[in-house]
Amino acid sequence: MDPIDNYVLVTGGAGYIGSHTVVEMIEAGYTPIIVDNLCNSSRESINRLEQITGKQIEFHELDILDERGLEELFASKHITQVVHFAGLKAVGESTSLPLKYYENNVMGTFILLKVMAKYRCKNIVFSSSATVYGDAKEVPISEDAPLSAVNPYGRTKLHIEGMLQDISAGDSEWNCILLRYFNPAGAHPSGLIGEDPKDIPNNLMPYITQTAIGKRQVLSVYGNDYETPDGTGVRDYIHVVDLAKGHIAALNHLSTKPGCVAYNLGTGRGYSVLEMIAAVEKASGKKINYKIVERRKGDVATSFADPSKALKQLGWSARYNQNDMCEHAWKWQSQNPNGYDPSPIDHA
Ligand code: NAD
Ligand code: WQD
Repeated sequence: MDPIDNYVLVTGGAGYIGSHTVVEMIEAGYTPIIVDNLCNSSRESINRLEQITGKQIEFHELDILDERGLEELFASKHITQVVHFAGLKAVGESTSLPLKYYENNVMGTFILLKVMAKYRCKNIVFSSSATVYGDAKEVPISEDAPLSAVNPYGRTKLHIEGMLQDISAGDSEWNCILLRYFNPAGAHPSGLIGEDPKDIPNNLMPYITQTAIGKRQVLSVYGNDYETPDGTGVRDYIHVVDLAKGHIAALNHLSTKPGCVAYNLGTGRGYSVLEMIAAVEKASGKKINYKIVERRKGDVATSFADPSKALKQLGWSARYNQNDMCEHAWKWQSQNPNGYDPSPIDHA
């Protein structure tokens, strides 16, 4: 008989946010089992997790589209909760390959939920995104702001949120917490785990740190004519360890049987692109080479969260500041110039 009777399945746990959450889960006394198909991550992240936590971590290289594989896992372990990170997240790619996103994200979640229902595991924390607010008209953005999709990636998040609302409405045993992340940034303070984009980064922070390390030559700043204090886009960057701790608060809250409920995970404060560049320059002591280019299609001027619901109901708020985020991101980047790949960097 397995002595552990309450595992938490972490889909996508080898990835950026998932790996940081696994560290916090172990510290909080949860026993995670990671499933990940490694399509956007590396097995080395599991080794690093074991190094940080001093614990052996159960890992299965498995695709959530593999219904049989998931069934075998649920049949062999008593899984009581799921934290569901697995998904594709490249906005641009989702526009050119929407079916890939619907299959992986929506169908993958559908299969996961079907297997969960079969094994009577009806507690899930889902990685949603501030993208579900589309082109929000007001800031700060609260959870009851209108929802809309501005690209196929965002639509997959809306579809999944809808599925989780429907199953909770139809069966009161389901508890689903939708965590709408703003802009994750930073890395574990150890510098052992962090964001490791497989291709050219889509997001600002990894692009800045890769430029600082010399892997990218120049950062393109998408527009300086927005209605913001310095003309560049303003976002709510949140330290990934704060985000990870938000998942622990959500897991704890599941036991109060909340039904289906959404929370913003953000700091409530925005920084511009130029402010983020300056902060990484300070943290790294490196000059970031950048040029101003045209606006990027689909970008909004300003986005930041109203995080008060998570504080009130989950007792969670972000603790790290912008300097911490940049220092930790730089520690990760400088200790691991090529991410989890040990080979030397190619200078672009
Ligand atoms: P990530 O790519 O680092 O992690 C996702 C992980 O899921 C990867 O390890 C990948 O290999 C795995 N995966 C993808 N499809 C899978 C499948 N079919 N089966 C098994 N594993 C699969 O991304 P992340 O930044 O850690 O994001 C985690 C989640 O948070 C995603 O759902 C993403 O959409 C969401 N999110 C991310 C951000 C962000 O800016 N990073 C913002 C909001 C929401
Ligand atoms: C931040 C700011 C850019 C890159 C995206 C997704 C969203 C969510 C988080 C998953 C903006 C500017 C960026 C660059 C730049 N992901 N920028 N040069 O667009 O707020 O959100 O990631 O759910 O769905 O859309 O984040 O990091 O791409 O951009 O000037 O090379 O940096 O214009 O103002 P974004 P980002």
